[in-house]
Amino acid sequence: MYRTNTCGELRLSDAGREVTLAGWVQRVRKMGGMTFVDLRDRYGITQVVFNNSDNAELCEAANHLGREFVAQVTGKVQEREAKNPNLPTGDIELIATGLTVLNRSEVPPFTIEEETDGGDDLRMKFRYLDLRRPNVRRNLELRHRMTMEVRRYLDSKGFLEIETPMLVGSTPEGARDFVVPSRMNPGQFYALPQSPQTLKQLLMVSGMDRYFQIVKCFRDEDLRADRQPEFTQIDCEMSYVEQDDIINLFEGMAKHLFKELRGVELTEPFIRMPWAEAMKLYGSDKPDLRFGMTFVELMDVLKGHGFSVFDDAAYIGGICAKGAASYTRKQLDQLTDFVKRPQIGAKGMVYARVEADGNVKSSVDKFYSQETLQKLREAMGAEPGDLILILSGDDAMKTRKQLCELRLEMGNRLGLRDKNKFACLWVVDFPMFEWSDEEQRLMAMHHPFTHPKDEDIALLDTDPAAVRADAYDMVVNGVEVGGGSIRIHDSALQAKMFEILGFTPEKAQEQFGFLMNAFKYGAPPHGGLAYGLDRWVSLFAGLDSIRDCIAFPKNNSGRDVMLDAPAALDPKQLDELQLALDLKEKA
Ligand code: AMO
Repeated sequence: MYRTNTCGELRLSDAGREVTLAGWVQRVRKMGGMTFVDLRDRYGITQVVFNNSDNAELCEAANHLGREFVAQVTGKVQEREAKNPNLPTGDIELIATGLTVLNRSEVPPFTIEEETDGGDDLRMKFRYLDLRRPNVRRNLELRHRMTMEVRRYLDSKGFLEIETPMLVGSTPEGARDFVVPSRMNPGQFYALPQSPQTLKQLLMVSGMDRYFQIVKCFRDEDLRADRQPEFTQIDCEMSYVEQDDIINLFEGMAKHLFKELRGVELTEPFIRMPWAEAMKLYGSDKPDLRFGMTFVELMDVLKGHGFSVFDDAAYIGGICAKGAASYTRKQLDQLTDFVKRPQIGAKGMVYARVEADGNVKSSVDKFYSQETLQKLREAMGAEPGDLILILSGDDAMKTRKQLCELRLEMGNRLGLRDKNKFACLWVVDFPMFEWSDEEQRLMAMHHPFTHPKDEDIALLDTDPAAVRADAYDMVVNGVEVGGGSIRIHDSALQAKMFEILGFTPEKAQEQFGFLMNAFKYGAPPHGGLAYGLDRWVSLFAGLDSIRDCIAFPKNNSGRDVMLDAPAALDPKQLDELQLALDLKEKA
C-alpha cells in the first residue's frame, strides 16, 4: 500500500496513529538536529519531522530530498507544539520512522506554491507542474464540481446527454473554422464544430425533446482573456418551448450553480434588458451592472456653442463618476491616453469637474458659459465632487463603444467592479441582422437559425435591419456567459432567411440542405441556449482569464507551448493526404 492517508487528511484526533503518506516534497528545512519536510499532494500539505537524535541515518536521507521529489513516509502522528492555523493539518505533524524516495525530480523551473516566481510562458510550457500549484488545481476542482452540478440539474429536468460528432462539415456564417483534411477523401476537409448548433436542432427533429452536452467547440478567431480557440459549452436544446420557458429554466440553473458553487442565493428574477437599451445606456450588449454610471446623451446641451468637435459630432455622450472631481491633471491625462489607444480609438476626451461650490469647470470652458455647464451638470445628475467625462464622434455606435470602455475603466479605478459581487441579467430583443463592412452585406447577429420576433416578420421584406430576434444572452458582471434563441422550424422561413443573408437557393441547399430538408419532416417548435463553461468557472473562481480554469490552454497566439502545437506536418503525412503546401508571404 503506497499510503494510508492523504496529505490533507490528518487531524488532532489522529494523534498516536501509525500512518503512511506519499506525495511531493514541497520544502525541506533543517533546524538544529531536526529536519522538517512539507509533503504535498492534491489534498493538502503535512509537515513531516525527521529527528537526528532518533535516527541519524533517516534524518540524513531526508536532508538529501530535493524539491518535487516523490516520497513515501511512514511515521506517527503527533500534536504539534507550534501549531499552524493556516493549514488544515496544522495541529499535527508526522514523526517519521521510514522514508522511501519513489522518484527524484530535477529542480523545477519555478516554485510550486500559491505565489510562484514563474512567468506566464514558463508556467504554460511546464503546465503539468503549474497544475500542482494549489490555486490552479482548485480551479479544476471547481470546474469538475460545476459540470457535476450541471449534469445533476439538467438530469433532474429530463434532459438527455447526447454526443455529437467532432468531425463535421464546414459552415459559413460565424467565426473561421478549424479544418481537418480527410485522407480517404483526398482534397476534402472536415471542420471542427464551432458549436453543435445544427446537430442539436436535428436532435429535436428526432424527438429527443430535451438535449444537453458538455462539449468542446472550436473557433479560429482572435483571442482575448475570455476567448480560447477551443472552449467548452454547456449546450442545450428543448422542444415545444417559448423564449420564457428557456429563460426561466436556465435562470434556474444559474441560480442553482451560484448557490452550490459560490454559496450565493439570488432570489430576485434577473433583469431583462432590451438590446437597444443596453446599447443606449451602456454602449454594450454585455453591460456590467455592478455599478451605474449610465450614459447620458448630450447632443442638445453641448451642440451649437462653437466647439467644432461637438458641433460636428453624430453622438455626444457623458458619464458621471461620483466623487472623482479630485482627479488630478495627470490622472485625467492618463484617461485621455486610455481612450486614445488604438484598440479604443477615441480622438480625445472632455472632462468637467463639479466643484464644492457647485461651479462646473471643464476642459472646454472657453466654448461654454457657466449657464450651459450648469445645464450639463443637471443633465448628468452630477453633484459637487463629481467628475463628468464626455466622448463624441461621427459614428454613434463606435462612440458608444468607446464610452463603454471608459466607463469600465472608471469602474475599475473607483473599485466598483468587486469580484465578489454578482450582477446578472438577460439581454433580449437582439437585432436579427447586423451590417458587415467586410462582407458588405447583412449577417445574422446570432446565427441564421434564429427566429425573428413574430411581430417583426413582416419587416423581413421591407426593412430587414429593423427586425428583432427571439434571441437572448445571459450576462454576468459584463461577461456574456451564455446565449441562445428560439429557432426557425419552418423550411420556407429558413430559406427566406438565407436569401436575406445573400445565399442563392443552390448555395443554401448545398450548405444547409440537411437542415432544411429535415424541417420538411415534422420539425417541432424548438429553441435552446449554450452556456460558456470556461467563462462560468472563471467567474466563480474570480479569475482574470479563462486560461486559468483550463487544464491545458492555448496562449494568445493560439499555441500550445507545452506540446509545441501547431507544427509542420511530416512530408509523408502530407503525401498521404495528397496535399502540397504553397505558403504565401503575409502582406
Ligand atoms: P454563442 O456563440 O453565443 O452561441 O456561444 C455560447 C457561449 O459560449 C461562450 N463562448 C466562448 N467561450 C470561450 N471562448 C470562446 N471563443 C467562446 N465563444 C463563445 C460564451 C457564449 O455565450 N450555438 C449557439 C448557442 C445557441 O444558440 O444555443 C452558440 O454557439 O459564453
